[in-house]
Parts: sequence; structure tokens; C-alpha cells
Amino acid sequence: MTVLALETSCDETAVAILRGDNSGHELLTSEVASQVAAHEKYGGIVPEIASRNHLIHAPRLLDRAASAAKIGLSEIDAFAATSGPGLVSSLMIGASIAKGLAIGFGKRYLAMNHLEGHLLSPFFGVEKDGGNDIKPNVSLIVSGGHTMLVVVRGLADYQLAGRTVDDAAGEAFAKVAKMLGLGYPGGPEIEKHACGGDPQRFDFPRSMLGSENFSFSGLKTAVRYLLPKIRPGDERRLTLTPYNLDEQTLRDLCASFQQAVIDVLVTKTMAAAQKHHVDLVTVSGGVSCNQALRRQLRDASSRKGIEFKSAEPWLCTDNAAMIAFAAFLRLRAGFESQATDEIDPNLALV
Ligand code: KG4
Ligand code: ZN
Repeated sequence: MTVLALETSCDETAVAILRGDNSGHELLTSEVASQVAAHEKYGGIVPEIASRNHLIHAPRLLDRAASAAKIGLSEIDAFAATSGPGLVSSLMIGASIAKGLAIGFGKRYLAMNHLEGHLLSPFFGVEKDGGNDIKPNVSLIVSGGHTMLVVVRGLADYQLAGRTVDDAAGEAFAKVAKMLGLGYPGGPEIEKHACGGDPQRFDFPRSMLGSENFSFSGLKTAVRYLLPKIRPGDERRLTLTPYNLDEQTLRDLCASFQQAVIDVLVTKTMAAAQKHHVDLVTVSGGVSCNQALRRQLRDASSRKGIEFKSAEPWLCTDNAAMIAFAAFLRLRAGFESQATDEIDPNLALV
């Protein structure tokens, strides 16, 4: 079975083609057109610009993917697209193209949940045998839009174990980077500056440690109110302009902020793994590119004798390979969608 997937839920336009059968799967190609440059000057994603760019990039990526995979679009068995959650004007581009191709070629269409793409991505390249290797696990999904813990019992068998009540972890990284006048996207910039910083210099809050849910808005506010104290008398302190912190202070601040986020993520993930009696922890989503987070999750898991699996960094930020993989597993397990299925910007995973 050969599946083509489109991912246009936010600001990345992506197309992937994956071929698989009962014994495994092979990614034929994964194409991503980043829109970072188009949104950079606004310091965040502008939905109208994102959807217009999807419209420009998607047809080009489809051609590129077909030639890279040496396959004609008519030979594809199923067309999948992310149908939520995400920006409605972005989702509609990928979903409409996939539906059009499915109808035009008389093939199957599969509406996919973006979060399931992230959730299953740590199993990419390793699963075998009809999805049975989606071993029970506690899965931490940390991205720009979501922070959640999910108990996974198998394919499509998910239970919510915790979620953010305000900001997503990636959003906190982005907002703090913006306050500090660092580049866009913020997460990798904070990680870069945290290198060589003292994670204990600034004592930031670890919110809601006693709960299964997350909260990152207090941490963001704590950074906001600390900044004027580091540079008293700076009249720019109430604007989102750079603070001209000295290099070491900037590094210490980034390291302290990053460590506060990681402490909360690691503590709650390990608590959920114990509570739900799983012996595997997985992590996915853009924030899981963060090497310090990966390392500390791996270390905490090994201290508890729990296996740890993360997606490779290229699979952590938005891409269509994870959507094609999840679609392939679902199709093989007999799941179906209709071309009349609507996109849903608030599509829930569980
Ligand atoms: O999964 P993703 O590509 O998009 C969403 O589905 O939201 O995640 C993007 C998020 C952004 O907030 C970005 O700042 C964050 O992932 N991110 C990171 C790192 N790389 C990307 N956060 C922390 N450290 C990183 N190295
Ligand atoms: Zn994502």
C-alpha cells in the first residue's frame, strides 16, 4: 500500500509518500517547505499568509514528491491529510487537495489528527506486524500548540492523562524568546543560548507539580517580571524589545527558564508512567527537539527502569512523514474516512 500525506495544519507545507505492508514500512520521500522566513518579521504565524503560502507550495511539493519517489500520483492507493487541530484556513488547503486527488483518482481518503501524527512518530521506522508494536506507553506531546500526556494502549486506543490549562510549552519558549529579543522560532534560540548558562541562577516556578495538568503562563510571567529587576531603570522594560542583557545573564536566564520547563515535563511524565503502569515513555512534537529535554527524560526513565523512545529530531517538528505513517497504520488496521468529512480546527485526540 502506498500512501501520500499532506500536512498543512500550521505554517509548514509538507508532503510525504510512504509504502508499507504487513511486515513494515518504507518512507519514499518527505518534502517540507518551511515558511519561517515569511512569518519571521511578524514574530509569529500570520494565518492568512500561511494559507496563501500553502496554496503556492503544495502543488510544487506534490510534483517534487512524486518525482523523488519515482511514482505517478495515479499509482497512490490512498491520500491522507491533516484535518485538525490547526488553523482552519491552513487545514483546508491540504485537506481539499487530498480529497480532490482521492476523488479524481478514485482512491481512498483519510482524515488525520495532527496530534496522532506526533504521538506515533517515535515508532516510525520500528513498528512491525499490523501496529501491534505500538507498545503501551505514556506519551508526552510537546509542541507549539499543545502540551499533553496521553496513555497509549495501542493504535487508536488513547486516554488523556494531562494537558496544559493555559500555554503550551512551545508557546512559553516562543514568548520568552520574544521578550528577550531572540530570533524566531523561539525554542531553538532559547536552547542555543541556554548552552553554557547556569540553570540554577534564577529560581523560576515549577507550576502545578501536584496535578496531572500543566500550566506555563505563570512561568512566562515570572520571566516578564524578572527582566526589569535585572536591568532597573531601563525605560524599555514594558515593551517587547531586547533588554541588552550581558551574554552570561542571557545564557543563565535561558538555561534557568528551560530547566523550569523541563523539570515540570519530566516530573509529570514519570508520575504518569508510574500511575498507569507502563514500561515505555515516548516524547514527540517540536519542543522534543530540545536535547536537554530528551536527555533528562531518558535519564529519568532509565533511573526507573522504564524504556524511553523519542522521534528523530527531523520528525519532531511538523512534517508529513508522521502523518503518512499514522495514516498507513490506520488504513492497514481498517480505519476509513469519507471525502465529506470536515476539517476541525479543534479536533480532539481523545
Ligand atoms: O510540532 P511543531 O513543529 O508545531 C506544532 O504542532 O505546534 O512545534 C513547534 C514548536 C515551536 O514552539 C518551537 O519553538 C518549538 O516547537 N521548538 C523547540 C525546539 N525546536 C522547536 N522548543 C524548544 N527547544 C527546541 N530545540
Ligand atoms: Zn505539530
